[in-house]
Amino acid sequence: MTAATAPRLPAKIHPLVRAFLDAPGAAEDALDRFGSPAHLVFPQVFADNLARLRAVLDAQPSRYRICYAHKVNHSAAFVRTAEHAGIGIDVASAAELAGAVRAGFSTDRIEVTGPKGEVFLRELLGTGMTVNVDNVWELRRITELAAAGARVPVLVRLSGFAGAPVSRFGVPLAQADEALAVLAAHRERIAFAGFAFHIDSGEPAERIRAVDTCLELTERAYEHGLTPTVLDIGGGFRQVFTADADAFDAYVVALRESLLGRGEPMAWGGNTFGFHLDGGAVHGTPVFHKYANTVPAEAMLADLLTAGLDAHGGRTIAQIAAENLLEIWLEPGKALVDHAGITVARVEFVKQTADGATLVNLDVSRDTVTPADQEVMVDPLLLPARAHTTPNSGAVGVFLAGRLCLERDLITNHKVWLPHRPQPGDLLVFPNTAAYHMDLSAACASMHPLPPKLAVTVHDSGFAVCRDHDYQPGRPVPQWHGVQ
Ligand SMILES: Cc1ncc(COP(=O)(O)O)c(C=O)c1O
Repeated sequence: MTAATAPRLPAKIHPLVRAFLDAPGAAEDALDRFGSPAHLVFPQVFADNLARLRAVLDAQPSRYRICYAHKVNHSAAFVRTAEHAGIGIDVASAAELAGAVRAGFSTDRIEVTGPKGEVFLRELLGTGMTVNVDNVWELRRITELAAAGARVPVLVRLSGFAGAPVSRFGVPLAQADEALAVLAAHRERIAFAGFAFHIDSGEPAERIRAVDTCLELTERAYEHGLTPTVLDIGGGFRQVFTADADAFDAYVVALRESLLGRGEPMAWGGNTFGFHLDGGAVHGTPVFHKYANTVPAEAMLADLLTAGLDAHGGRTIAQIAAENLLEIWLEPGKALVDHAGITVARVEFVKQTADGATLVNLDVSRDTVTPADQEVMVDPLLLPARAHTTPNSGAVGVFLAGRLCLERDLITNHKVWLPHRPQPGDLLVFPNTAAYHMDLSAACASMHPLPPKLAVTVHDSGFAVCRDHDYQPGRPVPQWHGVQ
């Protein structure tokens, strides 16, 4: 197979990231200096993503607040970038909260989401932070723990909307009346801000139904004498990983064929990627379905805000929010860090297995680039080490193996075609790893330390690379790598 005919999964790459990877020696120098493997984050790409979401929101009549969902990545550079940009932050743990406060967020710009135990809940009361409550126990506990007159700002997260899969999070709609009764009875302790939801779905109708329901319950809240001012539409705005949807589809077709024993073997160890094989056919939704998305977050958001609601005479969600003085809050995580992070690893060695497959062993493990139950479905980029000037082969189909001494530590269970056979010391770049990839399940298995996290910025005279926690927006950065 040649490079031109090999199945490919080309990754969409932000121009700034592409320029960094194209700058001779820039990635290799960063790894030489800080260690390999490494996660690189690009705060300017975060700012770019934010600007696109803001442009959509600015075009609508409703007021809004964006809260960066910190859980998507541990990076302090992203948190500081969010603070510098003047948006809010959504934190879901005491450590995330501490990071937000360190970055300079005042408590009125902090929203606390997710299920909270008693200890965390106590920490939040009397601070002015908005508590997005997950359940009725949390709501009742706030009324018991808050001082009279404290007026804790509270959002109530709902779940169980028509047609949506059951979620472990949120107050089921059947308990909404109970929640309203608690809110109405404890107005001296709780300042009810409004209803919230978070749906991780690419299906627009699901979100529209959720908004409809929240608006209906907002009306009911008025009847209880409550005065909600917020409609919180959560996060879940999608990423676009692929640079070529047709190539992605063609790869998946070839993969499905290979699972049926036709064409070249493309799966490691009998993996079926969530597909079911039955009656000589491949069924079901693969674990990598998110990679098929081609609708960018800003388009999803624009479509939602401009969707007309029948119950409101066809007026759009943004119009209804504006007319009812409801500020739209959203908590994008992955949409803000889309394309704003890569993971770079070194090739240790290349070997053949007993069945003739080629394994490229890297100095990184699977959990460092993807949650174990998912599969990275964009091709890594091969950056030959400085010393390796001429490719030693044509395109080669390989599996990428991790550094853990565990049979299951395969970074890819699907075959990846690289432009040529890598050599020890070459770099492999995993694109777009900032959202729930680099930090979600990474562990110090086998006592390997976690990879360093570095912030990369571009300036007139070249790229600057520093440790993530040293990055300060708007401040000069110490180390420069000139663009040739
Ligand atoms: C309440 C809430 N808001 C926002 C988010 C961020 O979601 P995403 O990264 O999909 O935008 C999450 C993620 O779990 C969440 O639970």
